[in-house]
Amino acid sequence: MISVITGASAGIGAAAAAELSRRGHRVVLVGRDESRLKAVAGALSGPKGEVLTCDFGSLDDVRRLAALLREHYERIAVLANNAGVMSPHRRMTPDGHELMVQVNHLAPFLLTHTLADRVDRVVTTSSRAGRSGRIDPDDLSREGRRWNGWLQYGDTKQANALFTVALADRGVAATCFHPGLIRTGFAGEARLMRLSLVIPGFAKPPEHGARPLVHLATHPDGVERSGGYYSGGRFERVPSMSDPELAERLWKASLGLVGA
Ligand SMILES: NC(=O)c1ccc[n+]([C@@H]2O[C@H](COP(=O)([O-])OP(=O)(O)OC[C@H]3O[C@@H](n4cnc5c(N)ncnc54)[C@H](OP(=O)(O)O)[C@@H]3O)[C@@H](O)[C@H]2O)c1
Repeated sequence: MISVITGASAGIGAAAAAELSRRGHRVVLVGRDESRLKAVAGALSGPKGEVLTCDFGSLDDVRRLAALLREHYERIAVLANNAGVMSPHRRMTPDGHELMVQVNHLAPFLLTHTLADRVDRVVTTSSRAGRSGRIDPDDLSREGRRWNGWLQYGDTKQANALFTVALADRGVAATCFHPGLIRTGFAGEARLMRLSLVIPGFAKPPEHGARPLVHLATHPDGVERSGGYYSGGRFERVPSMSDPELAERLWKASLGLVGA
């Protein structure tokens, strides 16, 4: 059973890889840094893991990754779209998109869209921050609206949930989840995140954040509750994260932006 996990070099993705491997999945670890990925692969307790590098800051690199996965695997049991970034500074990619929009939404959108016919279920790491998202499918990078890192991050995590809804509408088993506040390298440049990590007991270890991913990757919920957003051990309905009309507008805009 092949499970592809993006953002597997650290944090929640690495912890999920360890647990899925323990349960017998053959895990394909995706990230930017080969040596970090190899260290995670070397610590797996189950079937030998595979390492594939890809920088989501380049859509061509995502196309290359998708082609490689298609070449190597007839079926993928789980595609875990987990890679993500939060930057308090506005950065643009060579493809012309704000960095978080591309890494957190457009890259996994393109990867999933290219692999959808091969994948049994898609699990995406969203966030409670998606509740504050005010996504505008015609202005994903907030060119014409107020920008700060958390506003943009919230939009991208709302996008993860809306993408899940659109996938489910197309017959792909897809769910997304909030991992909790997890002690990882995530948002290391953001003061708010650094502050929350110094409060003892406030942030949980990566294994805690990996639990919902593993649940949705292995439990019937990951298929039977397709389209759902899972948080705190239950499915939650957040109107702005489950609006089918907005999900369709985002789908069409994203198709155009990645040229699919
Ligand atoms: N930690 C939290 O409290 C929290 C809360 C809610 C949601 N989340 C979400 O959880 C997910 C995992 O984050 P984490 O907390 O485990 O943080 P993390 O330890 O920083 O891991 C992030 C992962 O994303 C990968 N990544 C970052 N930029 C990339 C790029 N340009 N191309 C390819 N891969 C890239 C990183 O790979 P490299 O080794 O290449 O850097 C790393 O494996 C993210 O989607 C995040 O939004 C986290």
